[in-house]
Amino acid sequence: MPRFPVATPQRNYTAVVERGAISRLAEFLPAKCGRIFVVTESAVWDLHGDRVRSALNQTTFDTLFFAGGEANKRISHVEQFAEQMAELGADRTSLIIAFGGGIVTDLGGFLAAIYMRGIPVIQIPTTLLAQVDAALGGKTGGNLVAGKNLFGSFHQPLAVLIDSDVLATLPEREYRAGLYEVIKHGVIASEPLFRVMESKRDAVFALEPKIVEHMVAESVRIKAEVVTADERESGLRRILNFGHTFGHALEAETKYSHFLHGEAVSWGIRAATHLGAALGMLPEQDSRDILAVLNAYGPIPSVAGIAAESLQARLLKDKKTIQARVHFVLPVRIGEVVVRADVPEAAVRAAIDRALAECS
Ligand SMILES: NC(=O)c1ccc[n+]([C@@H]2O[C@H](COP(=O)([O-])OP(=O)(O)OC[C@H]3O[C@@H](n4cnc5c(N)ncnc54)[C@H](O)[C@@H]3O)[C@@H](O)[C@H]2O)c1
Ligand SMILES: [Zn+2]
Repeated sequence: MPRFPVATPQRNYTAVVERGAISRLAEFLPAKCGRIFVVTESAVWDLHGDRVRSALNQTTFDTLFFAGGEANKRISHVEQFAEQMAELGADRTSLIIAFGGGIVTDLGGFLAAIYMRGIPVIQIPTTLLAQVDAALGGKTGGNLVAGKNLFGSFHQPLAVLIDSDVLATLPEREYRAGLYEVIKHGVIASEPLFRVMESKRDAVFALEPKIVEHMVAESVRIKAEVVTADERESGLRRILNFGHTFGHALEAETKYSHFLHGEAVSWGIRAATHLGAALGMLPEQDSRDILAVLNAYGPIPSVAGIAAESLQARLLKDKKTIQARVHFVLPVRIGEVVVRADVPEAAVRAAIDRALAECS
């Protein structure tokens, strides 16, 4: 059973990647576990709640239902849940199980971070995106009117249980959005993973268990190693933002309603690849291979009508932009990226133009 250790100053824990991993839930409950609260969405609970119920066996628990969607990833819901928990007698020994996609893992994690100044959370991600990214690494939070993910906290989980069986019910578009984050992991840290994505596309789409487990496990291994090296994103963890600087600009420009996060990341990887190639940092063949894989897993919804200058202006507003210097994560070969803050604006604009033209 693949188990990946995550070691951070806050907590050491394990990410388990295994078909049927949810059935092991009881093994990860703390010794002195008080009341258990499962934060989930009704759609997810209807499909897969029985897995959690039977894993908890005779243990009683309460379910906190979250309406779902980015528009609801708001602090007001966290407050509501906290009030509900208090009414139900939650105390410092209580445990939260966040069971759903990245929105639930982010919001449920944040609820755990702030309830009585912090109670434990076990993450059970149910979308591919949450399995390979959101549920691991301790970033929790939600949206303000002013922008996405503008409140939050680092709150590392007790464990992350990643069960690829639940992916069978994921809508294809959501699955594909997660695949772009897997491709990202390949480009930033693992040429072998990238080549698997390149050569096994049909098996990936057919959800062949061996391939799915492999790509999830490799992604989790990479993210676990990066988070272990840099919990708070002061250095190495920035490489996980590959494709995200451009991608966030696209999401914001389209008011988070036109693209799924992973789709915007796909476009962002494309722009960053063009930028790396134009700066002479990335061999041409590698650039061609990355673009070909993005195309093979595409298309993403059309970007027609989106103005390059607006996207460029938005780069400066990115949360990760420090003192008006945009930090770009750029590929130097498949399997390695670097962070650069000295990129000429004209080159950025040209990369945006090319990426827009290719996805119109
Ligand atoms: N904390 C982090 O490090 C981090 C990293 C990446 C993304 N995120 C966050 O993750 C969020 C996006 O997550 P997401 O893409 O998982 O979206 P999501 O949570 O909205 O889930 C997508 C959809 O899939 C449905 N769903 C979930 N599991 C299912 C299943 N097994 N079968 C059928 N349907 C299922 C959900 O009901 C929802 O409609 C964003 O808010 C983003 O900010 C956080
Ligand atoms: Zn992402």
